[in-house]
Amino acid sequence: MSRFCLKESFVTSETDYYRRRDFMRLGAVNALALGAASAGMLGLSSSVTASPASPDFIRKAKAAKKTIVADDKLNDFDDITQYNNFYELGTSKTDPYKNASALITDPWSVSVEGLCAKPGKLTLEDLLKPHDFEERIYRLRCVEAWSMVIPWMGFPLADLLKRFEPSTDAKYVAFETLYDKGRPLPGQRGRSIRWPYREGLRMDEAMNPLTFMAVGLYGKVLPNQNGAPLRLVVPWKYGFKSIKSIVKIKFVSEQPETSWNQLQSREYGFYSNVNPAVNHPRWSQARERRIGELRKRRTLMFNGYEKEVAGLYKGMDLQRYF
Ligand code: MTE
Repeated sequence: MSRFCLKESFVTSETDYYRRRDFMRLGAVNALALGAASAGMLGLSSSVTASPASPDFIRKAKAAKKTIVADDKLNDFDDITQYNNFYELGTSKTDPYKNASALITDPWSVSVEGLCAKPGKLTLEDLLKPHDFEERIYRLRCVEAWSMVIPWMGFPLADLLKRFEPSTDAKYVAFETLYDKGRPLPGQRGRSIRWPYREGLRMDEAMNPLTFMAVGLYGKVLPNQNGAPLRLVVPWKYGFKSIKSIVKIKFVSEQPETSWNQLQSREYGFYSNVNPAVNHPRWSQARERRIGELRKRRTLMFNGYEKEVAGLYKGMDLQRYF
């Protein structure tokens, strides 16, 4: 465990919340993002491999308001950054933080393509410029039946997508993660997945106010192992829909191919809404292990976001469209 004790002390109480704000005012956001070498000097966790925070990032992080908050206790920083799924960096839970430095996030650009009036290739800086940051505490439920509670920082995906003026023919939006054939990431040398990692959402799911583009967590720049420099967070769907390290966004008319569905369509559907009543063919989805807890807890329909998203699926057979 790191000596940088965000952990429980960073969690839910008002006192701790303000303590964190003071910490950030002291410029800690920048210091925390310096990466492994300087982190050691500062007595911080060596697990944090992240780009330095830009002045724009620091300003927005300080101003970020908590907008949507899960009541659950937060997972600590070490859990969130040392127990990951990021196949590009390896298949075991600890590979992503061990191999995090293999992911180079500067320079970074995102190509926006397909059925929209304003396609283009944007540098990360241009992509982030118009967006203020919010902090959102969301539950993340992995299809493997574990879960965490994570304080993300970022902005609604809808605000980003609207800038490109999608046409009415755009019924879906497809996403891709970095894949450079000439310089594959450690996990991309194997053929566990047909690279690049791909995900997609129906347009109304993408525009739902809960759907979030995260660029940070715990008030800091997103660590590489969590999908730097920007990743999707769709809290009512199984975690694999929340694609990391995005380089391409494409507006399309047909349901796009997605990585886990390509790999095993009987086990991983396109929708993949968290649903305790639809078991994975090889295990139950009724319960989950919250990382850091001993007893399993009940899994909630739509991961507890039923009020916000059930309307998206009215009239659909959720057993069939899993
Ligand atoms: N995105 C990419 N590009 N590659 C991946 O392997 N894994 C997914 C998702 N996004 C994955 C990905 C899975 S299975 C989960 S559960 C979440 O990321 C885990 O996010 P976390 O490691 O930040 O907790």
